[in-house]
Order: sequence, then structure tokens, then C-alpha cells
Amino acid sequence: MPKSWACLKGERDVSYYIRRMCREDVAQVTEIDHEAFPTMWPPANYERELKVSLAHYIAACEAGRPAGRTEITETQKRISLDLSAGMKRLPNHKDSPGRKGLPPGEGQYIVGFAGLWMMADEAHITNIAVRQGYQRRGIGEHLLIAMISLAMEQNARTLTLEVRASNTTAQKLYHKYGFTQVNIRRSYYTDNREDALVMAVEDITGAAFQGRLHQLEKAHSRKWGVALYHTVR
Ligand SMILES: CC(C)(COP(=O)(O)OP(=O)(O)OC[C@H]1O[C@@H](n2cnc3c(N)ncnc32)[C@H](O)[C@@H]1OP(=O)(O)O)[C@@H](O)C(=O)NCCC(=O)NCCS
Repeated sequence: MPKSWACLKGERDVSYYIRRMCREDVAQVTEIDHEAFPTMWPPANYERELKVSLAHYIAACEAGRPAGRTEITETQKRISLDLSAGMKRLPNHKDSPGRKGLPPGEGQYIVGFAGLWMMADEAHITNIAVRQGYQRRGIGEHLLIAMISLAMEQNARTLTLEVRASNTTAQKLYHKYGFTQVNIRRSYYTDNREDALVMAVEDITGAAFQGRLHQLEKAHSRKWGVALYHTVR
């Protein structure tokens, strides 16, 4: 059964969770996008993406509690209980533990996001990015795992993406999860005419990939803390 991580407790006792992206997130997502990518998308593009039925976007949020407070909010407790009692879905923003009294989507600090497009049995990862100050804490990997889970839920067989030839950081993450280079698009990026490497996992349903994913999920969980599992709606 495909699984996705809903909650992650980081090494500094900071909790993160992943939920579907909503319209209220677009400003923060755009901020992260501008930080991460030299060619910027205006906010309207993300708003449009959220309306496309083939597109699936998720956000990683720092759990909704003010800095310095260590106790878990009532909402967080309820969500944890719901999850452990078998609530089997990736939460929408309305279910997620935002700061009390704030509308859904607000008061939830977004630290990263990712998106994919489903085309027949191919899931194409459109982007994945983590705020600079939050990188190297397992969040990018967490987002990738959630994307893979989403792809499996959507009955994808193949996973594809494009990455700048110079982006060896992201390539390392993708290699870790079994992506290999299948093509090269010369001068693909308009800002500097850089090549794009097309990377893919040909069969995410196969035993080899599933075994690797399972091991990597376990290792990530051990390294970064408690992860709650549930399937994606
Ligand atoms: C790529 C990116 C999403 C990784 O996010 P992150 O939260 O820092 O990554 P994680 O901490 O989860 O690391 C997971 C794996 O990524 C790779 N990785 C991440 N940062 C790395 C670095 N600075 N150097 C080398 N490898 C790195 C490693 O394989 C790492 O696994 P390991 O810890 O076992 O070595 C992040 O660097 C980012 O947002 N970059 C800018 C946007 C971007 O380039 N997106 C990809 C577009 S295709």
C-alpha cells in the first residue's frame, strides 16, 4: 500500500508536516520559488496550477506553534491521534495544524513545496524546493517521498523530471531514489541556455524500486525522527 509521510519530528524538536498546497500558500510558495530558481514564475502561475486537475502540489509546513513554545497544540494532538487511529489521507490545509484563531493556510510557515503533473501513467515532477535556511534537514527528501506516494496513488508507473546540468545537489537526491539520466535537452533553460538532464525511474511499481523506497523511508525516519504514515487521498 502506498504511503506518505504526514508528520516529521526534526532533530531540533521542530515538527514538520506535509499537506496539499492551497491558494493561501501561493505568496509563500512564490517566495521560496524566487529564492530557489533563477527563472521565476509569477504567483498567478501557482494559482493556475492549483486549478489544474492533473497537477498535484504539496507544501511542507513547520508545525503551527510560535517559536520558543515546545508544547503540542490541541489541534496537533488531535491530528496525531486521528492519524494513529487510521486516518488514511494526506491532509488538506483545512485539517492541518495552523496557529489557533487564524484562517486555514495562514499562520502556517511553509518551508518547502513540490509539485507533479500526471500524464497517463507518467508522473512528472515539476518542482521541488526548500527554503535556504531549512535545507539539509531532510525536508527535500521528505517532499520527494510524498511526491512518490502521490504518484503511486495516481497509478503512475514512470516518474520523470528535468534538472539543470549544474544542479548536482538535486541530482544527488534523485540518484539516491533511483532516478537515472535518460535524456538531455540542450540549452533548455532560457536564462543561461543551460542544458536540462531528463531523469526518470522507469517503473515505480516494481519490486526493486519499492524495496529501495522502503529502505530509504526507514533510514529517513531513523535519521530525522518520528514519521506518521498514511495514504494519500
Ligand atoms: C534540492 C533540495 C530540494 C534538497 O532539499 P534539502 O531539504 O536540502 O535536502 P535533504 O536534507 O532532504 O537531503 C536529501 C538528499 O539530497 C542530497 N543533498 C541535499 N543537499 C545536498 C548538498 N548540499 N550537497 C550534496 N547533496 C545534497 C543528498 O543526497 C541528501 O541525502 P543525504 O543526506 O543522505 O546525503 C534543495 O537543495 C533546494 O531546494 N534546492 C533549490 C531548488 C532546486 O534546485 N530544486 C530542484 C529542482 S530540479
